[in-house]
Amino acid sequence: MNRHYTYDVVIIGSGASGLCLALSLAKKLKVAIICKNAANQGSTYFAQGGIAAVLDHNDSIDSHVKDTMSAGGGICKEDAVRFTVENSKSAIEWLVSQGVEFDKDSNSANNDFHLTQEGGHSHRRIIHSADATGKAVSSALINAASHEPNITFFEHHIAIDLFKQQDRCAGAYILDTRRNEVDCFQAKYTVLATGGASKVYLYSSNPEGNSGDGVAMAWRAGCRIGNMEFNQFHPTCLYHPQAKSFLITEAMRGEGALLKLPDGSRFMQNFDERAELAPRDIVARAIDHEMKRLGADCVYLDISHKPADFIHKHFPTVSKRCLELGIDITKEPIPVVPAAHYSCGGVVVDNFGQTDIEGLYAIGETTFTGLHGANRMASNSLLECLVYARSSAEKILADIDAVPAPTAPAKWDETRVTDANESITISHSWHELRQVMWDYVGIVRTNKRLQRALDRIQLIKKEVKDYYSHYHVSSDLIELRNLVEVAELIVVSAIGRKESRGLHYNLDYPDALEGSGDTILSPDNYSKRQTAL
Ligand code: FAD
Ligand code: SIN
Repeated sequence: MNRHYTYDVVIIGSGASGLCLALSLAKKLKVAIICKNAANQGSTYFAQGGIAAVLDHNDSIDSHVKDTMSAGGGICKEDAVRFTVENSKSAIEWLVSQGVEFDKDSNSANNDFHLTQEGGHSHRRIIHSADATGKAVSSALINAASHEPNITFFEHHIAIDLFKQQDRCAGAYILDTRRNEVDCFQAKYTVLATGGASKVYLYSSNPEGNSGDGVAMAWRAGCRIGNMEFNQFHPTCLYHPQAKSFLITEAMRGEGALLKLPDGSRFMQNFDERAELAPRDIVARAIDHEMKRLGADCVYLDISHKPADFIHKHFPTVSKRCLELGIDITKEPIPVVPAAHYSCGGVVVDNFGQTDIEGLYAIGETTFTGLHGANRMASNSLLECLVYARSSAEKILADIDAVPAPTAPAKWDETRVTDANESITISHSWHELRQVMWDYVGIVRTNKRLQRALDRIQLIKKEVKDYYSHYHVSSDLIELRNLVEVAELIVVSAIGRKESRGLHYNLDYPDALEGSGDTILSPDNYSKRQTAL
């Protein structure tokens, strides 16, 4: 039996952005948090390095703004960058007030926080909880939210699509994966806080659920989507057959770890004067270049020259996981490869998280705010989640009294579908899509590879459309439908960018074009873009 729920605000996603928003609304409004798995299964929980913020008196807002713009390849929106950085200190104070514990600097007479360093930053400005910052943030916020009577968690519920009434978003259809029923969640405001789309690639640092659902739902509902071609590959994921998705934090390079070739020699100084601390696009491309040049399976990250107690204190998670796999990082280098890590593009929003559709907000990795430009600087993502969650809460609280209650929506229609008998074809399409994206839309692209990818993706899309119109929905089918939608948006955006910039590197256009800006796809320009390929 399908259920019908009514809330003031429905937030789809329980990462840093969704939790921060829920907690900022819960004193006044009734909030539902929807999450497709357990509440802590988004990227947030797995974040390692920390959160960038201007906290040191030798640092400045101008310096953080300048570093972000420089890492972003010249197309960050300065007002979004300044807005985010100016709100960084208060965002961290808010986290501390919610019970998040950050590391203190043992050398500080004032009990200051310990700040670490990562690529692209000209100062130490990353506040962290050893190398498990995400776990500290996620656990404290889930704990705080579970004590708020106005917040209800719906775990193991996956949003399928948004619905509108008179052009205003009025809620979402959501599959309860335990009961296998589609329920209707109705609200004055619906918020997409669904994280990124890096699972569109075969190898990724991300948890399983990052299938770009927010971008795909917003696109189908008619929102503009920006800069999808800028997929960030993290330079250092562990290369080990049993360690799928395990990240080796960039903070390790910030604390002195060196990248080495299989013969033990360093190479980053040949690519950028900042060497290991160059922004991520440069480091990942350099590793890709060296691996291809040498035919090597991986390169190595070496911190073994540092004292063992320093390594254990700063990197307990990484050293423990590596040791479980037989690698003692205090004595030997770590085999690493780049893997898909972060989606810089997403649903176009303003500084309050407002999308193109009234009643629909989006926050966190699922968005395009203009902060990251062509390449996100390390540890600016959790910051963006917090700053935009807090600004959208302000706007929703200011506006909600004037919003009329939505009327009852149409019931989910299942009269024309039957039970799927071909789940093997769904898993085959999943694998094929990710392989195509990895092979043809990776760190280095060409026109021919992009066109080949688009042809394959459009075939898979046709098949998925066919399953979707004939069979009952399942989590796998919902995610595959979204992944294929997002893959197409990425490739169409990549084909449209006739230059190389930041994370988008195309051998057929190796230089940056002066004056080029963002790629904004809209329902109006999309068919024109596709026919112009
Ligand atoms: P997430 O935390 O990814 O949460 C997404 C939520 O949406 C989940 O609850 C999921 O269940 C839910 N969801 C998605 N689709 C649906 C659907 N259809 N229906 C219902 N629920 C849905 N950034 C930093 O700034 N610093 C770091 O140190 C750092 N380290 C990282 C390390 C790793 C291994 C990874 C993967 C990322 C790291 N990042 C880091 C990036 C950062 O963690 C993420 O960008 C950020 O946590 C995203 O938060 P979010 O709230 O947008 O989404
Ligand atoms: C890391 O710890 O290297 C991840 C940081 C980030 O993605 O910002």
